[in-house]
Amino acid sequence: MIIITQQCKTLKIMQITLTRPDDWHLHVRDNDALKYTVPFTARQFARAIIMPNLTPPNITSQQALAYRERILLACPPELNFQPLMTLYLTDNTPADEIRKAKQSGHIVAVKLYPAGATTNSDAGVTDITKCYETLKALQKYDMPLLVHGEVTDPDVDIFDREKQFIEKVLIPTRKAFPELKIVFEHITTKDAVDYVLAEDKFTAATITPQHLLYNRNAIFKGGIRPHYYCLPVLKREEHRVALNNAAISGNPKFFLGTDSAPHAQNKKEAACGCAGIFSAPLAIELYARVFDANNALDKLEGFASFYGADFYALNRNTQTITLQKKNWTVPDHYPFLDGTIVPLHAGETESWQLI
Ligand code: NCD
Ligand code: ZN
Repeated sequence: MIIITQQCKTLKIMQITLTRPDDWHLHVRDNDALKYTVPFTARQFARAIIMPNLTPPNITSQQALAYRERILLACPPELNFQPLMTLYLTDNTPADEIRKAKQSGHIVAVKLYPAGATTNSDAGVTDITKCYETLKALQKYDMPLLVHGEVTDPDVDIFDREKQFIEKVLIPTRKAFPELKIVFEHITTKDAVDYVLAEDKFTAATITPQHLLYNRNAIFKGGIRPHYYCLPVLKREEHRVALNNAAISGNPKFFLGTDSAPHAQNKKEAACGCAGIFSAPLAIELYARVFDANNALDKLEGFASFYGADFYALNRNTQTITLQKKNWTVPDHYPFLDGTIVPLHAGETESWQLI
C-alpha cells in the first residue's frame, strides 16, 4: 500500500494506492435492477459475495449459477468483476447440495438467515439444529457459513438481538462444529467484537460502513430518517467505537463487507420502510474516511483487500485502485428501475474519491 502526501504552497495532495479490494457482503437484487447496482460495485471491487435473498431465494446451486450469469450480463466486462455466489440455507437444504455447490467452482459460501430476521428471509432457518447434517458438509468441504446474527423472537428487544444470537445460536453451533468456518456478518456490537476476538481462526466478521460511521441517533436526527435504517439496526456510540477499533486493529478476523442493500426511494420513504442501506456507489470512499478519521489509513488495505480473501482461502487480488483526498458531493439519488435510489451520505460532502 502506498500513501503519498505532497505539500505545495497552498495545496496538500494526498493519495493512497491499494490492492483492489473485495466486498464480502453485498446485495444486488435481480433482473432489471442489476444494471443499476452491479457496476457501482464492479468499478471499485474485484469480487463480491453476492447474497442469495431473492424472491424466491437461491436455495440450489443451479439457481445460484443462473443468477451469476445474470449478474455478469449486467456488468461491463472491462471492469473484470467476479461475483462469488452463495446458497440460502433452509431447514431442508440437503447435505448433498453442498457438494454440488463446492464442485460448481463459483459458489463459495452458504448464508444463514434466521426465519423472519430481515428483508426476504421468510424461507430462512427456524432452528439451526435442523441444519446440522448440512453444516457437517460445509465443514467437510471447507465452505464458510455466513450468518445474519440476530434472534427473531419478537419478545427480544431489537437492540439485544445480536447479543442473544451469540449465546443462543453461535456458541452451541461452534461447539458442535469446531472447524466450521463462520463469518459473523455485519456485526454491530461490542459483544460481537469480543466474541469474535475470543474465538479461534475459524471465526471472522464483516463490518459495514454505516456501523462504523453512525450510531443509532442517526436514525432519529431531527425526524425519522429511513435511509439510516438497516438490519441489524445501528447501535449505541460505545458499540460504534468498538467496531472502529476492531476494523483498524489489523486483526485479520475483521474485514470489509458493505451489506449495501438497494431499495427504491419510495420503498424506503414509506409507512413501513424497507431495511437496507445503499452504499455501493461510494463504499470504498466511506471506509477510507473511517480509517483516515482514526489515523489508520495504513490498516485499510489489510481490512479491505487481504483478510477476506485469506479467510475464504482465495488468492489476493493483484490489480490496484487509487483514492485521492478530495471533497466531492454525493448525489441526492441515482436512477433505479423506473424511479430513484438514495445512497448513504446523500447530498453530503465526501472527503475521499476513487480516481
Ligand atoms: C438486507 C436486504 O435488504 O436485503 N437488509 C439490510 O437491512 N441489511 C438484508 C440483510 O442483510 O439483512
Ligand atoms: Zn445483508
